[in-house]
Amino acid sequence: MRIIESGDGLAIHIAKWKKDGKTIGFVPTMGFLHEGHLALMKMAHQHSDKVVTSIFVNPRQFGPEEDLDKYPRDIERDTQLARNENIDILFIPTQDVMYPPGYQTTISVPYLAKPLCGKSRPVHFDGVATVVTKLFNLVQPDVAVFGEKDYQQLALIRQMVRDLNFKIQIVGHPIVREPD
Ligand code: PAF
Repeated sequence: MRIIESGDGLAIHIAKWKKDGKTIGFVPTMGFLHEGHLALMKMAHQHSDKVVTSIFVNPRQFGPEEDLDKYPRDIERDTQLARNENIDILFIPTQDVMYPPGYQTTISVPYLAKPLCGKSRPVHFDGVATVVTKLFNLVQPDVAVFGEKDYQQLALIRQMVRDLNFKIQIVGHPIVREPD
């Protein structure tokens, strides 16, 4: 498994895979991996030749009252778990890769972002749509897997993929529950 932090580093491998006719599956995460994430990775393997997982705690999907700094992080453990799942590339972009100085653009899917979770988290889904768009452009996947656990997010991403003509198949994975 390769661990890559830069967009340029990632691009080299993506270009080679595309040239070799390999399909790419993608599982975006914010890290602190659990069984649900691992199930998404297994599903990505079923749909593609190569699998990329990203870990990026996206500040744009946290509101001012939501504690970004307290979001759990354990990169060493996550790396081991991703390795166990035979992930080909673990992409851990820095803040500067995702939002370089001067960054301005926001992607918004307003009708789906406003109700439900969006009522109490007004900036959340713009942040999700923006970071997922950027990750899609960097990883260029054929397939991306998202949990049905975050159903509003899944609906919004499907809409965004249609609206923006991404050639990406979005696969939803059923909720993985603890035995209790
Ligand atoms: O579901 C998540 O973990 C995040 O919202 C995502 C899709 C990785 C975007 O930061």
